[in-house]
Amino acid sequence: MTVKKDNKFMKISKINRYLLFAGLALFLIFGHARADGNTLNVFPERIVLNLTQTPYNSQAVTWRTQKMGTSPRAQIIRVSEFSSLESTPKIFSARTSAVDLDKKTTVYHHSVVFNSLEPNVLYAYRVGDDQHFSEWNQFITASEKLKSFTFLYFGDIQNQIQSMCSRVFRTAFQKQPDAGFWLFAGDMVDNGDDDKEWKEFFNAMGWIPRTIPLMLLPGNHEYPDRRFIPLEDYKISKLWRPHFTLPENGPKDLEETVFSFEYQGVCFVMLNGNELIEKQAKWLEKILSKNRQHWVIVSIHQPVYSISKRRNRTDFQKFFVPVFDRFSVDLVLQGHDHAYSRTFPLRNNQRVPDKEKGTVYVISIAGPKFYPISSRYDHLMAKTGSREPLFQSIRVDADTLHYTSYNIMKQVYDSFEIHK
Ligand SMILES: [Fe+2]
Ligand SMILES: [Fe+2]
Repeated sequence: MTVKKDNKFMKISKINRYLLFAGLALFLIFGHARADGNTLNVFPERIVLNLTQTPYNSQAVTWRTQKMGTSPRAQIIRVSEFSSLESTPKIFSARTSAVDLDKKTTVYHHSVVFNSLEPNVLYAYRVGDDQHFSEWNQFITASEKLKSFTFLYFGDIQNQIQSMCSRVFRTAFQKQPDAGFWLFAGDMVDNGDDDKEWKEFFNAMGWIPRTIPLMLLPGNHEYPDRRFIPLEDYKISKLWRPHFTLPENGPKDLEETVFSFEYQGVCFVMLNGNELIEKQAKWLEKILSKNRQHWVIVSIHQPVYSISKRRNRTDFQKFFVPVFDRFSVDLVLQGHDHAYSRTFPLRNNQRVPDKEKGTVYVISIAGPKFYPISSRYDHLMAKTGSREPLFQSIRVDADTLHYTSYNIMKQVYDSFEIHK
């Protein structure tokens, strides 16, 4: 390529050069201020899909704006009809809640539940208001009946969320781009009331939660530290419920922290290990006694058989384990101990004889903080260890559940199968 000298540029006067440099300096100053978030962002951010109780016919989406726009809403259309002139997107008005982050800053969380959807259909949606819309995103609804699918499960994120955990999320997405949803077993952040940590969480995830739904339950770090506050102030972070739209079918006072949902032949139950354990055990019994799904998977943050030296939740063994045993829960997914463990199939707090039915309890960790391991329950453990971040891919077929834990190099760290 021939490069021509631009004589006009060569003739720029000194004054013009000063103006050019001044303009560049202003751009750098104000451009930087915007990137730091000093200027209000009027566009939807933190857009996240969550599954409803019935993901084959509805889908929840939540987003946040730093300013209140006019008529917050979402639009949705089947992808197959997107380019057809006769089809127009359906509009769903949003529910909005204002959240005061501090005395000077209020933000607005909006949510919509798209209903009357068709099973196993690819939809496009966007969220926004009169003037500002997000990009169009896509999701696929679940099938109504039992059908093979894969979901991902993550233990605690909690620390160095953006700098270290982004790689875990990206590797997980590369490994399983078609996961039905991602399940988080609590402690996504270190301080649930710190909006900056939630910002890191959403930055680390990028656009993934706009297309793959997240299902989450709270860990102890989404609650205040119980040692330093009066009992009446011990409540889920005020940032939890506005950020997500989770099923509200749990016991009273535990809405969106305890719930169940059905996904292609699996009954999932999300429990809250922070409070009202006995009440949850009674609710769980009711839910599982009505269950018609082929598989049952429970998730709870604090482990039933802890591998941490400082912890041992005997109340879970007293209240939850008899219910897990009675209704043959297949798998329990946990976090909290910042290490990895997987039990043999258990019943009544004991290892079951080979080939007998039992519940497998897993603890995993996705973040960069690790705790030493206790040998208290070594007699129940098929595997313990790990000082590396992991993510788990779980494929559920009609007769077999295939579980694989990967490290960030996509190497298999642990794997097993459960057969029906
Ligand atoms: Fe944790
Ligand atoms: Fe925890």
